[in-house]
Amino acid sequence: MNDADADEGRRKIDWAREHTPILEKIRERYVEDKPLEGTVVGMAMHVEAKTAVLAELLAEGGAEVAITGCNPLSTHDDVSAALDATDGVHSYAERGVDREGYYEALDAVIEHEPDVTVDDGADLIFRIHEEYPEMVDNIVGGCEETTTGVHRLRAMDEDDALLYPVFAVNDTPMKRQFDNVHGTGESSLSSIAMTTNLLFAGKTVVVGGYGHCGRGVAKKADGMGANVVVTEVDPRRALEAHMEGYEVKTMNEAAAEADFVITTTGNRDVVTREEFERMKDGVVLANAGHFDVELNLEELADYAAEERDVRDGIREYETPDGRKINVLAEGRLVNLATPVSLGHPAEVMDQSFAVQALCVERVLDGGLDAGVHEVPDGIDRRVAEIKLDALGVEIDDLSDEQRDYMSSWQHGT
Ligand code: NAI
Repeated sequence: MNDADADEGRRKIDWAREHTPILEKIRERYVEDKPLEGTVVGMAMHVEAKTAVLAELLAEGGAEVAITGCNPLSTHDDVSAALDATDGVHSYAERGVDREGYYEALDAVIEHEPDVTVDDGADLIFRIHEEYPEMVDNIVGGCEETTTGVHRLRAMDEDDALLYPVFAVNDTPMKRQFDNVHGTGESSLSSIAMTTNLLFAGKTVVVGGYGHCGRGVAKKADGMGANVVVTEVDPRRALEAHMEGYEVKTMNEAAAEADFVITTTGNRDVVTREEFERMKDGVVLANAGHFDVELNLEELADYAAEERDVRDGIREYETPDGRKINVLAEGRLVNLATPVSLGHPAEVMDQSFAVQALCVERVLDGGLDAGVHEVPDGIDRRVAEIKLDALGVEIDDLSDEQRDYMSSWQHGT
């Protein structure tokens, strides 16, 4: 990392800042009141421009911020350099680190002795619990950004292994219904398009999982003229996809006709050798789920006769019968991990990170028991109100009569 990188990173952060009006609104109060003064916030998130806006906001609120990545391929080194040059922020994130380097950077964040942790995928919380249990008592709480992280934390909580309170930021309407749906939908497709330079229109796009992310990917692919096929394991989600007008098939059946397969399940082994054996020549595989376990690339490597990098971010596996199967970004989340990925659009991260910032403040107020907590509805609502205000959209108010009517059980036919 050098000064030139930091300048480019600063330009990226400034651009994101121009498009994050909710965070700007929160910033006005933070600069004035310094609600985080004297605290240390440890973060493990995708270190790119929008995350940098959040980190700098927390620093402007008075916190000392130590940050690293939550994925070895999603860091923008120029943004990391710019952040590290910012007063009150230390960035340890670097793109392309190996496993050891990834955990060393997490340890460097932990050495700052955070009062609050902010995670995307729960690796920081998990590391603290595993390797630094003596620090747990001094941590006031944490915030978790994504579905897979919240799943991990709930599993820890059920085993009584989660030793401090954590807000499930992912689960708020202002995060999940926008970031996971529209953010993942738009940024996954644009990353795939930019990495491959291939067309979606008229192609068969198989979407693995029809949850929040899958719904977004399916809708945007449909909008681009693709023939969308959905795979699911939940009968209700499968029916929803069916009634949205998509074909629903098993992955094994769908794989045989796919031009693109995009997994969004948060689960492992969604695409395995049984599917690789049936795929068409030239198929493109991408994963948008948090961890790189959805496409079983070990099985693909075993099955393939040869493999090579054919473009930046594309590894081609040639099957024994001469078909080519193209995997993007090593099966890591495609909207953040290809060399051209930018992550979600700024406007949508504005919402998610506004919830994060307000949750950090709430955590510091204390009084929460260890375990996973829902974000107070008032925080989520406040973020929605600021967003509508920024958009210049007005909505109606409930009248007293309407409020009475809605809360009464006595009105009938
Ligand atoms: P969700 O729980 O709403 O949806 C997941 C869906 O996958 C569910 O409907 C589930 O039934 C289905 N599923 C599970 N196993 C399956 C299998 N073997 N085959 C087919 N379907 C299966 O979760 P959400 O919010 O959509 O998140 C999905 C993943 O994406 C998580 O890992 C999450 O952390 C990650 N994520 C990634 C983002 C990105 O920027 N790429 C942004 C937000 C979330």
